[in-house]
Amino acid sequence: MKRALLIGGSSPLGMAIRGELEAHSISVISTYNENKCGGESLRLDVTSEESFEALRRELERVNLDYIVYNSGIFTESSQRNLETDVFDRVFSVNMRGLFLTWKYFGEKLDASRGSLVAVSSMNALHPGSSTSHYDASKGALTSYVRSLSAETGLRINAVAPGLLSSSRINNSDFAESFRRHTLTHSLVELKDVACLVYFLLKCESIYGQTILIDNGYTLK
Ligand SMILES: NC(=O)c1ccc[n+]([C@@H]2O[C@H](COP(=O)([O-])OP(=O)(O)OC[C@H]3O[C@@H](n4cnc5c(N)ncnc54)[C@H](OP(=O)(O)O)[C@@H]3O)[C@@H](O)[C@H]2O)c1
Repeated sequence: MKRALLIGGSSPLGMAIRGELEAHSISVISTYNENKCGGESLRLDVTSEESFEALRRELERVNLDYIVYNSGIFTESSQRNLETDVFDRVFSVNMRGLFLTWKYFGEKLDASRGSLVAVSSMNALHPGSSTSHYDASKGALTSYVRSLSAETGLRINAVAPGLLSSSRINNSDFAESFRRHTLTHSLVELKDVACLVYFLLKCESIYGQTILIDNGYTLK
């Protein structure tokens, strides 16, 4: 049975990805930071190298075929008013955590010739509103997966979703304005992103790409 490490398995998208991988008989070890998630799950704070050390010790004897990096935080502010520590934290969770994931677990993928998918955002490729720091942190993933794939010869890719459907925001003005701007008049379904993650993990001919999944938002 293939085994995946899912970083940030506690979010709604994380849970959808776990369900999709398990439906394809992939055994999933999820990590969470503050919100414990179901299934086999272990704590990891992606901003802490000590936390990565501890997880590496726990998984010392575990082989990995796949890694999904889903941890991410989103904040909005004009850049002039943005606190520097918020900027640093967004980059730390969204980008530096992927670097640490590779640093601590990349050798397991090297050994299995496995693959990695990082969750980026549509904002990596299309500006949001007062989100330049978030957009740049997700944009950095695009360069990172491309260069790391070239460096390692492994399948390292990213998905870039538009606004995800979730009970938290479905009725907001923000969600309504996203819907109006798409070709489908809808938010992006979690299960569609989870399917794309599974596809990219398995597909043997895609290297270093960021695949947009936005219901046509960026075409208008
Ligand atoms: N929601 C959207 O519309 C949207 C659109 C495009 C891209 N995305 C991206 O999709 C991914 C999932 O989004 P979501 O909306 O499902 O996320 P969410 O509900 O905001 O959850 C964020 C996830 O990141 C984890 N996380 C936060 N800080 C962490 C830390 N210091 N160490 C380890 N994990 C940490 C959280 O873990 P705990 O809950 O355990 O603390 C949680 O699993 C993110 O990368 C996000 O940027 C989301």
